[in-house]
Amino acid sequence: MKFFIDTASLDEIQEAHDLGVLDGVTTNPTLCYREGVEDFEGHIAKICDIVDGDVSAEVIGTEYEDIVAEARNLVKIADNVVVKVPLIKDGIKAIKTLSNEGIRINCTLCFSPTQALIAAKAGATYISPFIGRVDDISTDGMQLIEDIVQIYDNYDLDTEILAASIRHPHHVLDAARLGADVATMPFEVIEKLLEHPLTDRGLERFLNDWDQLQENLKAAE
Ligand code: G3P
Repeated sequence: MKFFIDTASLDEIQEAHDLGVLDGVTTNPTLCYREGVEDFEGHIAKICDIVDGDVSAEVIGTEYEDIVAEARNLVKIADNVVVKVPLIKDGIKAIKTLSNEGIRINCTLCFSPTQALIAAKAGATYISPFIGRVDDISTDGMQLIEDIVQIYDNYDLDTEILAASIRHPHHVLDAARLGADVATMPFEVIEKLLEHPLTDRGLERFLNDWDQLQENLKAAE
């Protein structure tokens, strides 16, 4: 499973990159708003400099011509830019045009398996089902992942399933069990994946016992 970080924070991206397990970045207008990004293209360029993997940058246009024009512009920023396009009628049309040109697309705001099927047919490189937001309306986000995995398997569709709107480590675990290709998550979820109280307790005991051993050895000299 590939790990992407879902943020526009350069500090968080650098810290996750330094861990050595980061495969890419997803951004969106909300995340840019939170960071107070002024120069969007310049900011994406900085992210692309930090990360070796794919960096998703989202279009703002909702009409076919605008989406296509924005996407063609965004991919000029760096080779690892993937253009995020919303799952709407003009978006699907634009994905077909852009994928035919070799531009890689992350189709975002996916909430149903049939939306995911259409995005794959249009040629999206990634589909982003928003698990957390599905859970938010008391429906099962993981069922959405499971359905997409099955449909893509049935028809050998190459589109990668990018589990998005991940809120906690259990989302990552379930998405991995189901075979999602990518999980994009906030920095704090990456940190939580590492944590276990028994690891902390075990390490404390190892270190204490080592100190005790040194003291015993000194005393025996
Ligand atoms: O990758 C999509 C993500 O940013 C949405 O997350 O938590 O706003 O539903 P959330």
